[in-house]
Amino acid sequence: MNQIEEYRRQHRELSEFVAMVRSLLDENQLKIEANARLAYEKLSGLAETVRNHLSGEDKGLYPKLLVDEDPKVKAIAWGFIRNESPLRKEFEAYARRWLKSGRVQYSDDFVRDTTEVLDALIKRIDKEEKELFPRLEEAKADLFRSKKMVDLVDVTVHIDEKLDHSRRETLVGKVREEDGVVSVALHDEKPHLMIVEYNPAQTSSANILKRVTSQGVHAELVGL
Ligand SMILES: [Fe+2]
Repeated sequence: MNQIEEYRRQHRELSEFVAMVRSLLDENQLKIEANARLAYEKLSGLAETVRNHLSGEDKGLYPKLLVDEDPKVKAIAWGFIRNESPLRKEFEAYARRWLKSGRVQYSDDFVRDTTEVLDALIKRIDKEEKELFPRLEEAKADLFRSKKMVDLVDVTVHIDEKLDHSRRETLVGKVREEDGVVSVALHDEKPHLMIVEYNPAQTSSANILKRVTSQGVHAELVGL
């Protein structure tokens, strides 16, 4: 399962939790002791699952996207983060206010606060599912697919000339245009070595080398 699929699975789990809690959120339901306990358990479980999910995304998804080599992916992630409400803090404040006593009790304030955090959670899930994930998958189609299905390989190209930063950037851009190329790394610390990850069903190391040399530089494949 790739990372995005795993987040989607967690979203489904969270949505089921939310639907369950919503069904208990009225005065008649919560008057019944067993339901009040169930609501407490579900809300505590939800708060915990949300905490894990959001911290997973905050650590495992967003930081990676923000330093991605593809500027399109970076821009999508930044745009998304800037517009996000601090959902984790909202949930923590909610849990402190309503989930400390070991049970829940009906009150207008309780229902209003609960509805608010649940709505905020569903909104964020919806936004990730409908806006973020499809755009990421489109931008990085090959990377987010299972590597087993695609079987990517990489090749190292040695560039003989000493190119300045902007010429290296141009060269990287040109190699990325090749169909089947998934990522291209040519770092300032190793300016002669370009590592290209590609789908061998779509292109070949010879094509990649041709791309490089067509830019007027001398280069050869390393380690073949
Ligand atoms: Fe999420």
